[in-house]
Amino acid sequence: MRTAIVSAMHEELSAVLALMPHESRQVVAGREFWVGQLHGREVVAVLSRIGKVAAATTAAMLVERFGAREIVFTGVAGGLAPGVQVGDVVVADSFLQHDLDASPIFPKYEVPLYGTSTFATDTSLTERLVRAAQQALPQAKLHRGLIVSGDRFVSTTPESRALQAALPNALAVEMEGAAVAQVCHDCGVPFAAVRTISDRADDDAHVDFARFVREVASRHSAAIVQALLG
Ligand code: ADE
Repeated sequence: MRTAIVSAMHEELSAVLALMPHESRQVVAGREFWVGQLHGREVVAVLSRIGKVAAATTAAMLVERFGAREIVFTGVAGGLAPGVQVGDVVVADSFLQHDLDASPIFPKYEVPLYGTSTFATDTSLTERLVRAAQQALPQAKLHRGLIVSGDRFVSTTPESRALQAALPNALAVEMEGAAVAQVCHDCGVPFAAVRTISDRADDDAHVDFARFVREVASRHSAAIVQALLG
């Protein structure tokens, strides 16, 4: 059973990678995959890079080349729902692509030919991730629900409000999760995702995001991953 640990950016996973200094590194599709053990478990860790295509490529490689049997994504996201604030933790129950619109051929947000706009995360892996997040970050407020993904860094208050109005159930926004969820659905591989809120996806998002990824994101990921595997 090999668990894949994925983040988009180095700042989100550097503390996890530091725990695996002697693992073998393999470059596939221009990405470095760290293959080895963490807390005695078979692990492959990788940086997906940013955006849905990069994330989908990475997920496919993890399953096909590296034999990943479960995939956990960890990183940061912008808070959308009113109570989802910087420093909170969001564990995804499902994902949707907020920038997918093949209407009028298919309903807005629906993934063409799948008959659905959302992909659920794996229930038992998600439960494990919730327990790990609670154990690792007991002070943080934890939310569970829909995360939306798209190839945009949402960084204006009007755009954030428009997303909230269009998708009132969305807790947070990021740029990769829905792509990984779709690949995992296709491949029959359990998927779970946890995101710490780095910004409110508003006019201050770029400043808050930069500070959070520099100062907090990696520590949060490492604490959660250690609790999950430990
Ligand atoms: N990841 C973290 N903050 C984000 C935002 N505001 N938009 C998209 N992805 C993000």
